[in-house]
Amino acid sequence: MSLFIGIDLGTSAVKIILTDEKGSILKAVSREYPLSFPHPQWSEQNPEDWWNAVQSGIEELIDGTDSHDIKAIGCAGQMHGLVMMDESGNVLRPAILWNDTRTGKQNDYLNNTVGTEKLRSLTGNISFAGFTAPKVLWVKENEPDIFSKCRKICLPKDYINYRLTGVFATDVSDASGTLYFDVEKRCWSDEMLGILGIDRSFLPGVFESSCVIGKTHICGLSADVVAGAGDNAGAAIGTGTYESGRCNISLGTSGTVFIPTESFVLPANSALHSFCHADGRYHLMGCILSAASCNKWLNETVFEGGYDVEPSPPSADDTLWFMPYLSGERCPHNDGDVKGAFIGVTHAVTREDMQKAVFEGVAFAIRDCLELCPDRITKATVCGGGTRSDAWMRILADALGIQLSIIGSEGPSYGAALLASGARPEPQAKEIINPDLKFKEIYDIKYSKFKKLYPMLKDFYKESD
Ligand code: XUL
Repeated sequence: MSLFIGIDLGTSAVKIILTDEKGSILKAVSREYPLSFPHPQWSEQNPEDWWNAVQSGIEELIDGTDSHDIKAIGCAGQMHGLVMMDESGNVLRPAILWNDTRTGKQNDYLNNTVGTEKLRSLTGNISFAGFTAPKVLWVKENEPDIFSKCRKICLPKDYINYRLTGVFATDVSDASGTLYFDVEKRCWSDEMLGILGIDRSFLPGVFESSCVIGKTHICGLSADVVAGAGDNAGAAIGTGTYESGRCNISLGTSGTVFIPTESFVLPANSALHSFCHADGRYHLMGCILSAASCNKWLNETVFEGGYDVEPSPPSADDTLWFMPYLSGERCPHNDGDVKGAFIGVTHAVTREDMQKAVFEGVAFAIRDCLELCPDRITKATVCGGGTRSDAWMRILADALGIQLSIIGSEGPSYGAALLASGARPEPQAKEIINPDLKFKEIYDIKYSKFKKLYPMLKDFYKESD
């Protein structure tokens, strides 16, 4: 018997699944770990917490299984995070995550002084606050002692692969989000490393996602470990998004729109990211920093309840809008200072209206990304925790005006297991939702108003700094 493990090193938890060689999921476990916001705009995690969660999760996952049956492990992980280690592999500071926007100054330096045209020609992308390169510059400027001890720099899932195998490696899809990787040529950019002052020896070797990088012997296993993928490329493999014409929307802590392309594309203004896909090709991607995390904030922090508020029905008379920028925003605004907001609150506004506004606000931010796509998207698969809400999925279909195939929550872990096994089963949708044309008309009008909010408010946050 041949079994495979897929790991999704997420922001709120690690999800780990066991599959057979055909890609059927046999078991799933998850472990949460803390996420800390030590200062406004900071977002950090302790790599040791990830590793403890992965080890104990694998232990539970394989309990009752003959460990010899487990042939290979794949890991997909939250992208862009900066893990810094010394010569011996000791972690020097907490990891700075993808939704950390402390690097406004470094981001401006990269885009304005180095210049977006140079960045685009070297890497295929411009700088966004959450990318890895501005974080390296931040540590260099603000924590010079740590920077001087640093001998290894890697991404979150690469740290897990390092602990699993002792091999220092990354894959092309995750490396694409560093801004020191030449996406078109699928290798590190020496010129970018020079600009950032990073010694090439600090970086892991680069592999295609399904390449075996080493073996792990933890928990009595003797299994191959593949290079793996960034979580979005992993989710794309898991949802069958590897041919042009397809599109996957992921609603996790972040929200992403993932569009596979046959060859490298340099999009206008680089408002969408241009990255390597885990299947040997390329993709475009829009990313919003807060998606299901807005719903979590509303239900857990504001309502202090159990996700039981049903949104009120769509209406052209609504006055309430939600701007989902709880961690600033990546695409399309590239603005770490902007904040979330409810706009248009009156005495008549109910909890049901607030629930609806949050679902709609995230859907409109996803539409902002979809509208940047070079080709019109008419249908998409959807994965991630947000798919648990049927009401949200209906609003998403109506607000985007496209057909949605709801796949479920196991996108990245499933894709990681498929990278390890080589299986490529056609994904099964749990449900297909077509937009309701009368609601779509209402949402087209509401979206055109939503688009006016950011230009009106963006300077407010800069002035109030
Ligand atoms: C993608 C991104 C997020 C994280 C979330 O660019 O930053 O989707 O990968 O885990």
